[in-house]
Amino acid sequence: MIRRSILLGTGSALPVRTVSNAELAETVDTSDEWIVERTGIRNRHIAGDGETTASLATDAAARAIEAAGVTAQDIDLIILATATPDQTFPAAATKVQAALGINDCVAFDVAAVCSGFLYAMTVADSMIRSGAANRALVIGSETFSRILDWEDRTTCVLFGDGAGAVVLGAEESADADPKTARGILSAKLHADGRHNQLLYVDGGPSTTQTVGKLRMKGQEVFRHAVVNLASVLKEAMELAGLTPDDIDWLVPHQANARILDATARKLKMAPERVVMTVDRHANTSAASVPLALDCAVRDGRIKPGHLIVLEAMGGGFTWGACVLRV
Ligand code: UT7
Repeated sequence: MIRRSILLGTGSALPVRTVSNAELAETVDTSDEWIVERTGIRNRHIAGDGETTASLATDAAARAIEAAGVTAQDIDLIILATATPDQTFPAAATKVQAALGINDCVAFDVAAVCSGFLYAMTVADSMIRSGAANRALVIGSETFSRILDWEDRTTCVLFGDGAGAVVLGAEESADADPKTARGILSAKLHADGRHNQLLYVDGGPSTTQTVGKLRMKGQEVFRHAVVNLASVLKEAMELAGLTPDDIDWLVPHQANARILDATARKLKMAPERVVMTVDRHANTSAASVPLALDCAVRDGRIKPGHLIVLEAMGGGFTWGACVLRV
């Protein structure tokens, strides 16, 4: 028998307030036309008073738990991916744990910026397969609006706030065929710290004792993203014993519609098989993959039996991909 992590449920949460490109253009030297043409972004959600990374994460988690048909007390592991925690410590995961009324489980944050959800999924999957966990809540949640330089038009138009979550459960199965087996079939992660000054925050507790603002050399990140995303997807598919032709849905990190189109072209995938939410949510960093996943599950595109690939690339650089059958 093979012990695998299976997807039991998904959930997401978005701040109440939406901000259109036209609204941004009232205070920033930009235009709806530029933002749509260069990024595909039309709207983003921005957190208001009382909405934080932990509160959005808790709402997304509660929806994922409900969709999974389990109770909060069944959860024995919480991993929360974020680069914008409510506080430097404690981990936002422990705030979610307390808000959900779970008295004892493993709970910690993962910092891998936009790839954080892929890192969190991979760690949760390893812990489930090793027997260290049976039911994991994996969350990506961010409030990037709070680390943006609202006077820097090259970055502030690109990001939004939100949260997405999944519940993973352990399942023993005799099915060794990757064409039919359910659950996480492979995951592959990378990091290359030589590029950590291309996308970073210019502050932190141990350096400036401030929170800092996001800085990005967009064009260079773009170039690396297209190459790295296509190659890690192929690696993960090979690890699973599958090819890109087997994919029903690609659920990529939502940074820029042009990156998604270029990745699909490189993999010779039909654009209709790529889940795209960047137009509505902008780039929500670690939240973007689970948010897009939840949208495509709830609108009925992703169905039981479908093979999906999650992938992301972000600051560090970090990048990764995860292949799973729903
Ligand atoms: O989530 C982690 C991964 N992040 C990413 O994957 C982001 C990757 N990068 C990108 O998505 C793109 O590089 C951007 C969307 C950030 C920028 O698009 P671009 O096509 O690379 O534009 P650019 O940086 O080459 O800028 C072109 C022009 C510049 O003007 P000049 O120098 O040609 O006169 C910019 O100053 O567009 C100007 N510009 C803007 N104009 C209006 C930059 N930002 C804006 C803006 N509105 N918001």
